[in-house]
Amino acid sequence: MSKAIALAASISMLLSMPAQAAEPSAAPDRPWLDPTLSPDVRAHAAVAAMTLDEKLRLIFGYSDQAYTDLAKVPDDIVPPDLKTYVVTRQVKGSAGFVPGVPRLGIPDQTQTDASLGVRNSFIPSTALPSSLATAASFDPEVPRAGGAMIGAEARATGHNTMLSGGVNLAREPRNGRNFEYTGEDPLLAGTMAGALIDGIQSNHIISTVKHYAVNDQETLRTSLDVTISAEAMRQSDLLAFEFAIEQGKPGSVMCSYNLINGRWGCENDYLLNKVLKHDWGYKGFVMSDWGAVHSTVDAVNDGLDQFTGFCCVTDKAWFGPPAMKAALQSGAIPEKRLNDMVERILWAMFAKGPVDLPVKVAPIDYAANAAVSEKAAEESLVLLKNEGDLLPLRGVESIAVIGGHADRGVLAGAGSSDVTPVGGAVMIDNHTYLPSPPLDALRRELPKTRISFDAGADPAAAAALAAQSDVAILFLYQHLSEGSDHALELTGNQDALVAAVAKANPRTIVVAETGGAIYMPWIDQVPAILEAFYPGIRGGPAIARILTGKVNPSGHLPISFPASADQLARPDIAGLGEPDGTPAEVLYDEGAALGYKWYDVKGFRPLFAFGQGLSYTSFALSSLTAQPDGKAIRVSFSIRNTGKSAGKGVAQVYVAPADWKKAGWEAPKRLGAFAKAELKPGHSKTIEVTVDPRLLATYEAAGNNWHIRKGEYDLRLGEASDELTQSVRVMLPDTTWSASVAGD
Ligand code: BGC
Repeated sequence: MSKAIALAASISMLLSMPAQAAEPSAAPDRPWLDPTLSPDVRAHAAVAAMTLDEKLRLIFGYSDQAYTDLAKVPDDIVPPDLKTYVVTRQVKGSAGFVPGVPRLGIPDQTQTDASLGVRNSFIPSTALPSSLATAASFDPEVPRAGGAMIGAEARATGHNTMLSGGVNLAREPRNGRNFEYTGEDPLLAGTMAGALIDGIQSNHIISTVKHYAVNDQETLRTSLDVTISAEAMRQSDLLAFEFAIEQGKPGSVMCSYNLINGRWGCENDYLLNKVLKHDWGYKGFVMSDWGAVHSTVDAVNDGLDQFTGFCCVTDKAWFGPPAMKAALQSGAIPEKRLNDMVERILWAMFAKGPVDLPVKVAPIDYAANAAVSEKAAEESLVLLKNEGDLLPLRGVESIAVIGGHADRGVLAGAGSSDVTPVGGAVMIDNHTYLPSPPLDALRRELPKTRISFDAGADPAAAAALAAQSDVAILFLYQHLSEGSDHALELTGNQDALVAAVAKANPRTIVVAETGGAIYMPWIDQVPAILEAFYPGIRGGPAIARILTGKVNPSGHLPISFPASADQLARPDIAGLGEPDGTPAEVLYDEGAALGYKWYDVKGFRPLFAFGQGLSYTSFALSSLTAQPDGKAIRVSFSIRNTGKSAGKGVAQVYVAPADWKKAGWEAPKRLGAFAKAELKPGHSKTIEVTVDPRLLATYEAAGNNWHIRKGEYDLRLGEASDELTQSVRVMLPDTTWSASVAGD
């Protein structure tokens, strides 16, 4: 039996019944099963055919803990036959399960985390590089291909819903989940998350964009009240969601744990009803984050469609049948609203595929999938420094590989995106490492080079090895996890280790496996730095191939790296050190000026600016033109490979009003467009991109409008936010339009 088939067989044993036993068959009296009808018509017809109890099944989902704990839940909340149904049909170890309605051919929703791959400790899966890493590719085709791959694994392991597409902006550089998100800029983050979602849903399953919204720190995430103006949100955090939803069209949106302006994320009339459903015309459903529901009536009326992740007897069954029936009976929840909730859930199931193409456990080609992950890493790792062209390694006889457990694997982040990798996780200090050691990969790439390893526990010993070697490659790590935030200082002796090794061997290359930004007090002592993020299941080979020049690096930073703590918008993380659940507040008075915008406003020079990334070749940008086109701006330019090797250049177009304050902007410039081009030496390409009008405008809450103020705007082109070499000016007229698709 092949490995893939053996795994499929063992996975199917986790499902006591096939995941989707419902047999959809259209008949004149079952129009909702007719795929030629629109999802809207089908959802409406299915709701009309449902009993109240059937409707209530679809709005109340169970967590994986239900597998063991549901028996203790009172029978009036979950009747015995439903308990049996849930525990026999949910995929053991998966994030969640929502029972379907077999009588009507409506399948169960089998839900799995998350953006880096299927997360289930019973099911080995292929881990992508962190979402922050794939955002660094500056190429939406990378997350799209990654999404198609992890979505296929979700499907082949019996899941029809993926809780994937994290798009919270890296407003707080210390956020423990930044590695699950796509950076600090609304356009880049939204485009990359949207592409991942699109890739996942190409497997005819539902994907979920999350965590809506402004859930930008993990400390006290379930009790933190975020104060931020509507204007700032619409121009930053919400704009990232808006782009992701437009481009990825996710079947569902997961609301967040925190409060926003005094209202819970999952009972937030402004965010759910007004912005998402009304202004953006969103047709899918809002599912709660696990444990993020706080009421029945308010949550329902303020826009939550599905309580997801009910676990056990201690959990409040806010959307359980007794609470819902009482609220319906009293009229506190109108029946029409219940029908709307169910219709939205069904709309997603019809529109995205789970009904017409039920998921089925199938063999998985893990080798092919690992290659997708490796390609993603190769496109995403960022070469931050390369003095004297130390890299790629050439003619090196001996290398000292030091630290970072580079002999065992590459680091992964923790929490609900912690994939159990094919080949088994390597657990070190309670942290997951993926079994892809860079040391082995380097030895494979450089068979004639003497490569020694030192774990780095003793800086003096590591320095001694470095001194005897032509080159030292020092691996650093920063472990991030859902549920807590993290300092930007490296832990343990790592800073001292770099200083000692760099002193012993000036040809020291740092490879940083980090969830996000770190401080680098030793920056001037090392000539080369490769930011490897969490590079995924084939991180080792990807790192080795970049260091040896088999692959030319082409990643660019999706976040700014602060130089020191005094550059942060907030010296301390709100509520740090307080016990979970303690009420806390944070005021985002920097508004939409986060990331590079913050640095620009303050005049700070970061350690590495947003968009930075080096290549082994060089590029020249020229022939920049810009032309207003309706409310948008069409931009064209040429990119040429002026170096000696083939490579991929990343061009970034920023918009800068001649007077940014007069334009009403939060900062002097915004990323307006970007493109990646693969070029052989001497070759060039003309690239055309369009700047979305919302990136030229400010949001005006009073009239619910976008507004471009009349004036001169510069289109500035370069390879990083702080290296803009070309500029062209356009005049824009005063333009105002509704921020609602309904136009009101
Ligand atoms: C996380 C979500 C995740 C859910 C289910 C929550 O704690 O915030 O991102 O999808 O758990 O595992």
